[in-house]
Amino acid sequence: MTVMEKTRLLSFLEAQSQEDWLRALEEILPSIHPVDREATRIWFAFWPLELRKALSESPDPEEPIEIARLMDLEGNWRLEEQIDSSVSFLFGAHYWARVKNSVLVEPDATAGFLAATIRSIAQKVAAAERVDPSLGLGITAVGLMMLRQVGFEPFERAKDAKATPPLLPKDPARIIAKRERKSADGLFTFLKGVNRKWDVRWDEKREDGVIRAINGQDIAMAGGDTGSDYRHLDYRRPAGPVPVECRVGSCGYCWIGVLAGRENLTPITAFERERLRYFGYDTVNSPDDPNPLIRLACQSQCQGDVTLTISPWNGELDRRHDQGRKKLGTA
Ligand code: FES
Repeated sequence: MTVMEKTRLLSFLEAQSQEDWLRALEEILPSIHPVDREATRIWFAFWPLELRKALSESPDPEEPIEIARLMDLEGNWRLEEQIDSSVSFLFGAHYWARVKNSVLVEPDATAGFLAATIRSIAQKVAAAERVDPSLGLGITAVGLMMLRQVGFEPFERAKDAKATPPLLPKDPARIIAKRERKSADGLFTFLKGVNRKWDVRWDEKREDGVIRAINGQDIAMAGGDTGSDYRHLDYRRPAGPVPVECRVGSCGYCWIGVLAGRENLTPITAFERERLRYFGYDTVNSPDDPNPLIRLACQSQCQGDVTLTISPWNGELDRRHDQGRKKLGTA
């Protein structure tokens, strides 16, 4: 790709607002294979353009520690360091190296339409991988947004690297069947009464990525009941697989994306909805959906089996962003 083509592609991507990206995502969503439909939206919720903008407005965008502190960012909020690991919960991660390479040789973003550009690249990925285009569509959207956020240099450096294992099995039907399969208590509910327990898969790629929740127990509490230390995965997890701190909806540590079984969590309350909005986590949630994609684990009680993925960072996107900009004189 020539320098001029790179500049043109990046200018095109940079001209798209968060709303443009979400609109494009909605447009392509029905064409994304069901195995990655929710996962693609969750990735976009975990990595909103607002976060990138806040960090890039720091006086030192290379080392935006001060603004990260003002936004109370915890965990790993640097997408540059997670180019190949942030996508691992998508099935399309199997095609990740191909997606990166295809994005980098795509000079044709000039069609001027984001959704059309995503589709065009995804077609080429699917043809090269000899798979149905629906399987490469979500991960291609992620690839373009990744390029938009990290820029050419880090993206090019990582272009041949595969997604960080473990990955999902290479059989989408098997994954969907597993997500829909009921645990033993789900099958024999009439026998169990109030003592039912549910499977909460917090990482469906891992053999040990499942905990049990008592009927009506929230996910944060169920995770804490394991008494296990997961700091080898993420320093925010000293007491269970889900990062938690306050357990009452105040801190924003425990936000999760629900890949399957959303209807098996208690419906979202006005309080939780307001907290998600406050933290800036609600970009892909529909305001009317009683069982939205993004939840707070400490506010979500289990009434059936669920499959989750956990955000690698937490913070206060909107309020601290504005405050931080004022304080740093960049507003
Ligand atoms: S643990 Fe603080 S919001 Fe859930």
